[in-house]
Amino acid sequence: MEKVVVSIGGSILVPGENDAEFIRKLADMLKEVSKEVQLAVVCGGGKTARYYAGIAKDLGGDTYEQDILGIAATRMNAQLLMLALGDMPDSVSTDVEETARSSGPGKIAVMGGTVPGHTTDAVSSMVAAAMKADRIVNGTAVDAVYTADPRKDPDAKKISSMTIDELGEIVYKEHGASKSSVFDPLGVKLAKENRIDILIIDGRNLDELKNAILGRKINGTTVNSH
Ligand code: UTP
Repeated sequence: MEKVVVSIGGSILVPGENDAEFIRKLADMLKEVSKEVQLAVVCGGGKTARYYAGIAKDLGGDTYEQDILGIAATRMNAQLLMLALGDMPDSVSTDVEETARSSGPGKIAVMGGTVPGHTTDAVSSMVAAAMKADRIVNGTAVDAVYTADPRKDPDAKKISSMTIDELGEIVYKEHGASKSSVFDPLGVKLAKENRIDILIIDGRNLDELKNAILGRKINGTTVNSH
């Protein structure tokens, strides 16, 4: 059975509109595909993370303290998904190895963030390495990687396939400019080291998400680590 880690952004899970309906449909789809692939899901923090981190900053909190609040938001989102999957724990696993171990055929492991200093994309790569996963599916708000920012540049072209080194070049450059990158640079580094492919897709499109999880053709970007 193939093993897949899904990194699902908080802005996808809880954009603030039809949230319960989307999470229910997502959970149903995940349950269905978990019969065919072994799954772990890492949830991002989205707006809630940014909101709380922003208040912490205004209160004089440092980046460590902001991250702690961001992590709390990722865990709340993980709990919402687990509730929809039928089993909401009082607290979410903070441990990558434990999550990797608890994933099994028909058994979906879910977690949020771990410790300050990175994002849930990096956690996804850590879980994927621990599980020896075949791929990471990154469900985000952009539907693929582009040659330029498609909102600013009309000539921007969708990249359907690229190497992990090419993604590395993009994210290390973006990171330098302190912009939120398409995938966390640490996550890219770990995926490269562990030879795990990354699929970058529109996470709100459940058909696309399902195709990516099952290794079928996608409209997003396939990042090859082999
Ligand atoms: P996200 O993974 O949602 O980060 O974690 P993000 O990339 O900023 O969000 P999206 O993908 O654009 O929606 C939210 C915040 O929580 C902290 C970081 O501050 C991160 O920005 N965090 C998360 C950690 O410090 N450690 C973790 O393991 C996870």
